[in-house]
Amino acid sequence: MSQPTIESILQEKRLFPPSAEFSQKAHIKSLEEYQQLYDKAKADPQKFWADLAETELDWFQKWDTVLDWQPPFAKWFSGGKINISYNCLDRHLTTWRRNKAALIWEGEPGDSRTLTYAQLHREVCQFANVLKQLGVQKGDRVGIYMPMIPEAAIAMLACARIGAAHSVVFGGFSAEALRDRLIDGQAKLVVTADGGWRKDAIVPLKEQVDKALANGAVPSVENVLVVERTKQKTQMEPGRDHWWHDLQQGVSADCPAEPMDSEDMLFILYTSGSTGKPKGVVHTTAGYNLYTHMTTKWIFDLQDTDVYWCTADVGWITGHSYIVYGPLSNGATTLMYEGAPRGSNPGAFWDVIEKHGVNIFYTAPTAIRAFIKMGEHHPKARNLSSLRLLGTVGEPINPEAWMWYYRVIGGERCPIVDTWWQTETGGIMVTPLPGAIPTKPGSATLPFPGILADVVDLEGNSVGDNQGGYLVVKHPWPGMMRTVYGDPDRFRRTYWEHITPKDGEYVYFAGDGARKDEDGYYWVMGRVDDVISVAGHRLGTMEIESALVSHPAVAEAAVVGKPDELKGEEVFAFVTLEGDHTPSEELAKELKKHVVNEIGAIARPGEIRFTDALPKTRSGKIMRRLLRNLAAGQEVAGDTSTLEDRGVLDKLRGGA
Ligand code: WT7
Repeated sequence: MSQPTIESILQEKRLFPPSAEFSQKAHIKSLEEYQQLYDKAKADPQKFWADLAETELDWFQKWDTVLDWQPPFAKWFSGGKINISYNCLDRHLTTWRRNKAALIWEGEPGDSRTLTYAQLHREVCQFANVLKQLGVQKGDRVGIYMPMIPEAAIAMLACARIGAAHSVVFGGFSAEALRDRLIDGQAKLVVTADGGWRKDAIVPLKEQVDKALANGAVPSVENVLVVERTKQKTQMEPGRDHWWHDLQQGVSADCPAEPMDSEDMLFILYTSGSTGKPKGVVHTTAGYNLYTHMTTKWIFDLQDTDVYWCTADVGWITGHSYIVYGPLSNGATTLMYEGAPRGSNPGAFWDVIEKHGVNIFYTAPTAIRAFIKMGEHHPKARNLSSLRLLGTVGEPINPEAWMWYYRVIGGERCPIVDTWWQTETGGIMVTPLPGAIPTKPGSATLPFPGILADVVDLEGNSVGDNQGGYLVVKHPWPGMMRTVYGDPDRFRRTYWEHITPKDGEYVYFAGDGARKDEDGYYWVMGRVDDVISVAGHRLGTMEIESALVSHPAVAEAAVVGKPDELKGEEVFAFVTLEGDHTPSEELAKELKKHVVNEIGAIARPGEIRFTDALPKTRSGKIMRRLLRNLAAGQEVAGDTSTLEDRGVLDKLRGGA
C-alpha cells in the first residue's frame, strides 16, 4: 500500500445542477445552505449532532456526554436511553402517519402486501413477544436468514425492540457461510423461511439452515422460526423448528420497547476482509439511529407523499440502513421487492415503479449496467414519470452508465445521488444533497455535513487537487462501526493503523483510493487492497482461495478480480493442483461448483486457470498485481523485481 492507489484517467467536465423546482421543495435548497451546514458541523461536530439528536429523535432519557472518544473507540450519547424500534414505529402512531403505508411489499410472483405504521407496529410487537417466549433476552444474538419479505424487517425491528442484536446473513450465502457467521455471533435463535422467490425459482433457505446446524455444529442455536413463503415441503425438526404463523397466533401485541443504552449493540453484520475470517461489523443504537435518520432525510430528500424504493437486499448494510431503519425512522413509505429482473421479465423493476408510483429509486451501478445491456425498450415501455430522484451505491459508476440512468430512467429530470459509504460507516458519507449540490457524472461529490473527509498520503497529509490518495475520515461520526465483534484489536489494525499522522491523531481508513478535483468533489477510484467487488459486493480473495484449497485436488490458489462490464469485477482463479491430478474442463467446473457450495453463487469463479506455480515474492507473498494483469489479458506492468522465480511468469503468460 505504499503508492497512491490507482491512476486517475477520468476526465469528466459535465455539470448537472438541480432544477429550481426541485431545489425549492428540497430539505436543503442551495449550495450555500449546504456549505453553511458543513461549516457549522465542522466548527463544532458535537453540537451539530447533539442538536439534531434532540430535535429529530425521541429519547426515554437524555444523554450525559455527546462524544466519548478513546481512539479508536467512540461512544455517542452516553447515558442516553433510546430504542430504534420505538423511533421507527411507536412515535408515528400518535400522528397522522398512524395509517400511512410504512412498508409496501411486492413479491416476485406478483403478490403484494401493504403494512401501515399501525399494522407494522402490531406485527413487530407480536413477534417480539414470540422471541421473548422462546427465551430470547436483551443482549442475545438472533440470526436472520431470509428472503426479501416483510417478515425480514419485522424480525429486525422485533429484535431491536427487546434489545437482542440481529445478525442478518444474506440469503444468497451458502450453508457453510451461514454456519461460520452463526458460530462467530453465537446466535441463540435463527429466523428463516421455507424459501424465497428468486428469478422464477425457489431458494430453499430452510434447507440451508438445516445444513448449517447439522450435527450440532452451532450449539448456541436453540430454536429456528420458519416463515411459510413458498409452501414447498419442508422438514421441521420437533422441538427446534417452529412455524412463524403458529407462534404468532394469539400472541399479545402489547410489547413496550425496551429502553436501551445509546451504546447497546443493535446488530452485527459480516463483511469480507482481506484475511479469511469474515469480520463482524458492530453497530450500536443511538448514533446509528441518528445517522441513518439524517442521511435518509437529506440525501433522499424524503417528502411525506413519497414512495421510496431501495433495491438492495436486507442482508447488506444498504438494506439495514436504507430499506428499514432510515426510512421508517423518518415515517416514510419504504418499498421492498422480493424479485429481480429475469428472463421471464427483464423489465420487472420498471413494472414495480409503475405499479406503485415510485418517486425515489436507489440501486447499484452493476444493476444499471445490466439494464443498459437488456435495452432501453424495457423502461421505455413503462410509465416512469412518478420518479423524481435517483440514487446509486456500491461501486464507482462510470459516466456512461450515469448518463444512461439520467436520460432513460430519470427522463433528464431527476437528480442522481451517487452515494459513497461502507458497511463500516453505517450510512452514506460522501454524496450530493440533491437540491443543493450540482452533480458530475461519476463523482460522489461532497461529504455529508459532519463528515470530515479528506484524501491523504500515508502520513495523513492532504494531497493536492486531482492527486490520488487514501480516502479517510478525520473525526468520529455517530454512524461509525464501534468494533469488530469479539476482536477489538482487529478493528484497530484494520481501520486505524494504515494512515499514521505524525501528530499521533487517529484517522479512519477502510481501503478506498480517491482524488478530489478543483471543486473539492470526490472521485472514488476503488479499493486499494485485495478485495474483489462483484456486482457491488466485496468479496475477500482469501475466503475464495480457502474455499478452493479445501478441495482435495487443489494445492494452492490465488484469486484476483478481472474487470467485467456487467458485474464490475469477476472472480478469476489461478490454481495449482496436487501431484496426482491433471487439469481438465471437468475439474474446472467442479471447482466452480465447490466455491458456490462453500461461499455462495456470488463468489463463483468466472474462470479458472490451472498453472504449475504462482508468482511469489521471496517472502512467499503471492503477487496479485501481476495476476490481475494476466487475468485482464494485459501485459504485466510495473516492477517485477521482487518476484522469486521469473520463469513462473513466462509459463503463466503461455497459459500453462
Ligand atoms: C465499498 C463498501 C455501502 C453499501 C454497499 C457496499 C465501494 C460503495 C460507492 C460509490 C464508489 C463505492 C467502496 C466501498 N463503494 N459505494 N458510490 N462510489 N465506490 O457496501 O460491501 O461495505 O462496500 O463499496 O469501495 O469501500 P460494502
